[in-house]
Amino acid sequence: MRLVLAGFGIVGQSFARLLMAQEKDLALEYGLVPQVVGIMDSSGWLIDEHGIDLKRTLKAKKETGKVAGRGRKGEVSRKAAEVIRDLEAEVLIEATPTNFKTGEPGFSHMKAAFESRKHVVTCNKGPLSIAYFALHELARHNGVQLRFSGAVGGGTPVLDFGKTCSMGDELIGIRGILNGTCNYILTRIEQQGVSFDEALEGAKKSGYAETDPSLDIDGYDSAVKLVIIANHLQLSKAGMRDVKVSGIRGISSREVLKIKKDGRAMRLIASVSQETGLVVEPTIIEREHPLCINGANNAVEFECRYSGPKVIIGKGAGGPETATSLLRDLLEIRGKINGTTAATQAYNMSGLGGQT
Ligand SMILES: NC(=O)c1ccc[n+]([C@@H]2O[C@H](COP(=O)([O-])OP(=O)(O)OC[C@H]3O[C@@H](n4cnc5c(N)ncnc54)[C@H](OP(=O)(O)O)[C@@H]3O)[C@@H](O)[C@H]2O)c1
Repeated sequence: MRLVLAGFGIVGQSFARLLMAQEKDLALEYGLVPQVVGIMDSSGWLIDEHGIDLKRTLKAKKETGKVAGRGRKGEVSRKAAEVIRDLEAEVLIEATPTNFKTGEPGFSHMKAAFESRKHVVTCNKGPLSIAYFALHELARHNGVQLRFSGAVGGGTPVLDFGKTCSMGDELIGIRGILNGTCNYILTRIEQQGVSFDEALEGAKKSGYAETDPSLDIDGYDSAVKLVIIANHLQLSKAGMRDVKVSGIRGISSREVLKIKKDGRAMRLIASVSQETGLVVEPTIIEREHPLCINGANNAVEFECRYSGPKVIIGKGAGGPETATSLLRDLLEIRGKINGTTAATQAYNMSGLGGQT
């Protein structure tokens, strides 16, 4: 399977490392031998149709900050969409920065991939929140797949878990903590009594906050993820303008500590149901509630009509974590091409399934 990587930052590099670390298992368990034939960062492209040496490229990126350096094979300065369209490959891995307003450059990259019949795996929330249905339609029209489990929950399979919950049951709503930065800030205020600004500084220093932290603290990051969940799990056909958003900016440590004294906690909760629509707002919840998690984690509760509520908790971000989602999606694509699921593939390759 030949791959093109758009974006070689925290997630893109983690994905390259994961491919190297999992090389043997991927071949043995899934019969998958991925070959990266193109990598792009903001400085340009590195292309090698025989397969890029990932170890050398990671080293070069660390030393020079670029993938396309002098003397290295395949440096090009053509338009990204053109290169994506022309490259002989099966899958585009899209991990460029999220743009909540235009979805670019990710949207154009995905469009070029679909038009040249390449599958797309992405963790980029921007294009999905703006053009969820258009992107799916483009993929369907060209007979390829679009997968994006890393766009919500990082390495925690929130979307896949939601799909599983809705099989044989009816999903009637979800609510949860979708932004680790806000949860980190609220937890720090609660546990250490620091001010909002001090907690936000801590989130920035720990690398949790977006470059523009207002996307986190004003609730937009949660809202974007909520839109993706609502559409993916068919709870609503929604866009950003359908979300009632209020963030945690301006919440005082006095308020948080008073709630703590009453045995409860303040959390930024995103929810969607037919009755309430899509809402992101600071909410007071019981300390014992499974959603009341601490630190930069995510937690999502799925309310099912017949089987009741179920909660999934895990790290909501991080390079290596999100890279596992990209790889999981890649295996699902490969499975679907072969007419099976990734889990069945591994079972069959083990010899237990009676097939190879
Ligand atoms: N980090 C996480 O924990 C996490 C979790 C879930 C989802 N995501 C999503 O994953 C995506 C990547 O996140 P990240 O943390 O890896 O970001 P990042 O470290 O900033 O990396 C972004 C990469 O995209 C490249 N890039 C920037 N503008 C570009 C352009 N116009 N054309 C081509 N490449 C461009 C950058 O190039 P340079 O290297 O030259 O700067 C860099 O290689 C984002 O959409 C983010 O929302 C991230």
